[in-house]
Amino acid sequence: MPSPALPADRSNPQAVTSGDGLAGPAPRPSSPAKISATKILARQAARESAARTYARHLPIVPVRAQGSWITGADGRDYLDCLSGAGTLALGHNHPAVVAAIRAVLDSGAPLHVLDLATPVKDDFTSALLEVLPADLAADCRVHFAGPTGADAVEAAVKLARTATGRRGVFAFTGAYHGMTAGALALTGANAVRDPAGAGDAYLTRLPFPHPYRCPFGLGGTLGESASATYVRTLLSDPHSGTAIPAAAVVEPVQGEGGVVPAPDAWLRALRATTAEYGVPLIADEVQTGFGRTGALFGVDHAGVVPDIMVLSKAVGGGLPLAVVVYRAGLDRWSEGAHTGTFRGDQLAMAAGAATIRQIVAEGLAERAAMLGDRLIGRLTGYQARHTLLGQIRGRGLMLGMEIVDPTGEPDALGALPAAPATARRLRAELLARGVLAELGGRHGAVLRLLPPLTLGDDEADHLLSVLELALDTVSEQTSRRDVRDLEVAGV
Ligand SMILES: Cc1ncc(COP(=O)(O)O)c(C=O)c1O
Repeated sequence: MPSPALPADRSNPQAVTSGDGLAGPAPRPSSPAKISATKILARQAARESAARTYARHLPIVPVRAQGSWITGADGRDYLDCLSGAGTLALGHNHPAVVAAIRAVLDSGAPLHVLDLATPVKDDFTSALLEVLPADLAADCRVHFAGPTGADAVEAAVKLARTATGRRGVFAFTGAYHGMTAGALALTGANAVRDPAGAGDAYLTRLPFPHPYRCPFGLGGTLGESASATYVRTLLSDPHSGTAIPAAAVVEPVQGEGGVVPAPDAWLRALRATTAEYGVPLIADEVQTGFGRTGALFGVDHAGVVPDIMVLSKAVGGGLPLAVVVYRAGLDRWSEGAHTGTFRGDQLAMAAGAATIRQIVAEGLAERAAMLGDRLIGRLTGYQARHTLLGQIRGRGLMLGMEIVDPTGEPDALGALPAAPATARRLRAELLARGVLAELGGRHGAVLRLLPPLTLGDDEADHLLSVLELALDTVSEQTSRRDVRDLEVAGV
């Protein structure tokens, strides 16, 4: 597997090698030097909605990007450990993806065809079916949803309701399934649910096992089996007050919830229980799919095959695309049961097919597993010196560092209070040193790392050394002032 080195000239990530072997700059649409980042950011703040997110915390103006790197209008290079919230499996402007998009454009094929059949769509569907868990691929249907993960989640739940004739849905604490009304109802974050009035009278919220903040106060495998037992009891107890639902929805690794992997044994128990009671299991693989967690799909770690799989992000190779794959027996939909104008983006399908094939050809899932283990090992090693690192967790290249107040009162299991202001300072220190990362999880106190799966060994080393410097600075700041004061002040 080629491990992309840092671009030789990182001030010009688009430097290309010409046929005669001489490196030369690729043509640029405009010179970044002429673009005023400050003015663009000021106009954005004045014109765009208060709901904008990443733009607030990462005030850069990307003008070019290649591989793991983004160049800002400020002329600086940034190591992208966000990669479109996990979308850019192959990093920015991967040659295979660019070539696939260019081939469609040059072919004169229509770009918009609603959900009509095209050779591009046919090829994408073949590429997808080749990598799905064999047991699902053997007898499934593919539905092209509107191009967002949220729309595909909506479709999955509607499908399960239609197929079973039931209404209820089981979803977990810490879950994130998107921002449209139905998907938001399944999402756990109260801060976004409550103001939107999101609710679903038929939703049952279940405790997701959390290795650091166990919802039962038990921790470890005791917490996991308590959660599994609770699900089983709800379904088996005739006095549980809960009807058998249309579906149970689970993320194999909760991303926005703070990078919390579903324990393998727990996921197998959930699969076994839902199968026993005839409840379709929906795996939301929007973020975990296509190698991100070190296996092609997040459920593969546990050897679990869901009845319905929701896919987006990497499936479109960086362009908007979302699909639902489900057992053919559930296909009780009537014509038009879930439509949308943008369900046939040809460029996204070409980019997606190229991405899927590249991930397999280059063994990028295996590489993500190897790199992820290495990063987790090194970051865990930092915990001895940096007591603000409460827990390092994740799978593959979906990593989280929970930032805590080391001076705070530990709970019964030793978990320290979340320190969101400290986490924000860490994010800012990383940005100042040219690394883009975001926060998530409870209280926004988990620093999330989602680099491209093509991250090179030297880029991983670079990330680790920048993280170490940033941690040194933040640890030093917090040792000078009482962390609780800083947290209360929110600085
Ligand atoms: C697990 C999961 N499901 C659904 C979504 C929603 O996807 P989208 O933002 O494309 O609507 C996300 C987005 O981060 C996600 O991580």
